[in-house]
Amino acid sequence: MELTGLRGATAAVPARRCRGASELCFALPPARLRHPLPRETQQQGRRRRRGVKVVAAISEELPRLASPGIKGGAGGERRSSREKVALRAALTVRRKQKEDIKEAVAGHLDALWDMVGRNVVLELISTKIHPRTKKPMQSGRVSIKDWCQKRGAKGEHVVYTAEFTVDADFGEPGAITVANRHNREFFLESIVVEGGELPCGPVHFACHSWVQSTRELPTKRVFFSNKPYLPSETPPGLTELREKELKDLRGDGTGVRKLSDRIYDYATYNDLGNPDRGKEFIRPILGGEKIPYPRRCRTGRPPTDTKMLAESRVEKPHPIYVPRDEAFEELKQGAFSSGRLRAVLHTLIPSLIASISAETHNFKGFHHVDNLYKEGLRLKLGLQEHLFQKIPLVQKIQESSEGMLRYDTPSILSKDKFAWLRDDLFARQAVAGINPVNIERLQVFPPVSKLDPAIYGPPESSVTEAHIAGHLNGLTVQQAMDEAKLFIMDYHDVYLPFLDRINAIEGRKAYATRTIFFLTQAGTLKPIAIELSLPPTQPGEARPSKVMTPPCDATSNWLWMLAKAHVSSNDAGVHQLVNHWLRTHATMEPFILAAHRHLSAMHPIFKLLHPHMRYTLEINALARQSLINADGVIESCFTPGPVSGEISAAYYRNHWRFDLEGLPADLIRRGVAVEDATQPYGIRLLIDDYPYANDGLLLWSAIRSWVESYVQLYYPDARTVQSDLELQGWYHESIHVGHGDLRHEPWWPPLSTPADLASILTTLVWLASAQHAALNFGQYPLGGYVPNRPPLMRRLLPDLERDSAEYAAFLADPHGFFLNAMPGVLEATKFMAVVDTLSTHSPDEEYLGEGRDEGGVPWTADEEAVAAHSMFAADVRRAEEIIERRNVDHSRKNRCGAGVLPYELLAPSSPPGVTCRGVPNSISI
Ligand SMILES: [Fe+2]
Repeated sequence: MELTGLRGATAAVPARRCRGASELCFALPPARLRHPLPRETQQQGRRRRRGVKVVAAISEELPRLASPGIKGGAGGERRSSREKVALRAALTVRRKQKEDIKEAVAGHLDALWDMVGRNVVLELISTKIHPRTKKPMQSGRVSIKDWCQKRGAKGEHVVYTAEFTVDADFGEPGAITVANRHNREFFLESIVVEGGELPCGPVHFACHSWVQSTRELPTKRVFFSNKPYLPSETPPGLTELREKELKDLRGDGTGVRKLSDRIYDYATYNDLGNPDRGKEFIRPILGGEKIPYPRRCRTGRPPTDTKMLAESRVEKPHPIYVPRDEAFEELKQGAFSSGRLRAVLHTLIPSLIASISAETHNFKGFHHVDNLYKEGLRLKLGLQEHLFQKIPLVQKIQESSEGMLRYDTPSILSKDKFAWLRDDLFARQAVAGINPVNIERLQVFPPVSKLDPAIYGPPESSVTEAHIAGHLNGLTVQQAMDEAKLFIMDYHDVYLPFLDRINAIEGRKAYATRTIFFLTQAGTLKPIAIELSLPPTQPGEARPSKVMTPPCDATSNWLWMLAKAHVSSNDAGVHQLVNHWLRTHATMEPFILAAHRHLSAMHPIFKLLHPHMRYTLEINALARQSLINADGVIESCFTPGPVSGEISAAYYRNHWRFDLEGLPADLIRRGVAVEDATQPYGIRLLIDDYPYANDGLLLWSAIRSWVESYVQLYYPDARTVQSDLELQGWYHESIHVGHGDLRHEPWWPPLSTPADLASILTTLVWLASAQHAALNFGQYPLGGYVPNRPPLMRRLLPDLERDSAEYAAFLADPHGFFLNAMPGVLEATKFMAVVDTLSTHSPDEEYLGEGRDEGGVPWTADEEAVAAHSMFAADVRRAEEIIERRNVDHSRKNRCGAGVLPYELLAPSSPPGVTCRGVPNSISI
């Protein structure tokens, strides 16, 4: 047994776990919840347990702070505030690993200036306020003294020191301000303050932030200690600073952002087009009443010359603004910039090759595709040596000295080169591929469209019982539906409204597809009908549709192959535009912006979310710049082309619901699971061997348990949730501004109880980690063989009635017809380069369940939170072991069998590179 218990998918009462040797089980809630203490006592108890001493307690201990030899300090006498104690701060600064000459010179200059007084100045702020002035107690200003001496020190990290002298009744340091009077920014990793006889022991400040020169940002930076405080529990000495820091982070909504800023604000997606380049580069603004969409990070750039409402573009290589601490750190930059170089190689060079020789537009045969992994592409550009030098040897796409560019063989081919030709792989991809989130139970036959019949014609599908009756193991259609044996991937309504515009583009041809699957006794799916529809020629008329069924001769075999290619192309588009980009990257961004604007760094929920927000703003900015922009990689490589953004926006407006984005709710919505309180997760899957759902539920459950236990530590009752103004401000703004176009939807979950909070946070952590990983890291390994999963189709099926010449050509050369229907060499190689990059784990990736401490500083001073996270880490490790066992279990035919790839996309750990596994904490690529 892998996981047992009685935890419903929407359990309202958090339960505490007990552990056996080989399984997880769930017991009753902890005693303190069943017998809650009176409010005062409980909160005081929590403070003691978390090491957050109340101010009164510190005052009582003050006599013991006396340093021997200081006048009046010994003997237990109460001291006057004029008595002093010494405290020492150790600041860990991370250096850039590679400095160019300009930076090295600037560093030396700063070291020299430091000697004459233009230095880094610190002030320590107490958690107490001064009894007379009613202001926070502060140390005097001190400077870092050893900056200049350590200029030549080796190593990535340098520890500097500063010494404070504070009043004996200073109390506990709660914040520290830093004024960087150098010319250059520096990255402050952490500060530890100790000395005197601090009753609380050393105080840790986890900073992880760029400190700008006061020339750039005149205000001092403030860092809080790693003790979490709800707003109502903020020590009086920190209250004002807490509010000011958040105000600074919010900005005033005006001005052009500089790269050194750290302001988090909102804007619409009005920078995807480039109207100044021409009409064909105009794109609608995504966001607003007309086209609802999530908000993105505001940059404040000026409008374009030709359209006032469109923000001007920032072209490569200049970066788009993100708040300074959101930018990739050096290691990640290295990984990504090399990825960008690869993209250049595959965007620029094939484009030139194609322009030089028209013969290279199309693949000449399947061997021509295979050669991309074997012989490679011969490059003929003068720039290549310059670019090649920058590609690390470990990169997946390598070049030989002859200037050959070679891809790795995608995993999908590595174990069974011919699997892609068969229906079993086609069906397996719906439950264990890179887009395992669109399979639904078929509950109405024939399937029905929800589109307006006045425009799109009668809503019924043209699939009839006669088409599928022979494939149902003797069941009638109704019996098969009743027994949950029929499933569907329905892309009809997603594509149909856009097909006229797509198919009018030269070299782009698509259908709106539906695929019906039968669940076999072996637990595998079998495609039994594919419907290919086009829009009606006149509004309201019947749609021209073809229904294809499993083949029985050579001709129908090739037509079936082409139909599957069109389905895969529909699937690739929905995967990229809707499930991957919209439902993880884009919809998370408003929650992240609002978190930085409303939750103080000392807020426990900020601390929980922090690792799950890492780099998301930066990767989304890069996506706006190079991937989802007009004529960007997504438009040029995927069939929908210029309507890509609108397809994603249509899903957001018509289907996206935050309350159904959690895994159990999504499975139930799609009808592939039903609620069942007797099952481990409160739901029962209708496809038992559904690798994405099987493994996903393991991680979902682990995340939920961790979040619930963490929330319990800070929110004993509904009142604490409702009265937390920062928390409520975060959620309110996420909905009313970040997702403001959908703010009136009735389905937004309330945030009134600890259970509400745990549920919302579980969904966010799930989306940022496991859900994104499942949709992201298989893109090259499972999608890099273009004939199996063409992101773009260029031809419809040959039609005997419509064009007999084309049909004759198809009969004469079906290989050639198929190859000419899928992407050409340029689109294919460009796509492969990009998805290879997107599938790459950076060397500094942080995976789910790994330690949260950075630079040796605990992420929180709350020992119970640390203990709860250790339990989570153990759950995640256990999940990985279970996943490994499942992958060698021959009864699970969707992940184990002859030439079958294991399903590892939700196996949490991974080495760097393209591994088709690994669950990072955040959406970072
Ligand atoms: Fe991604």
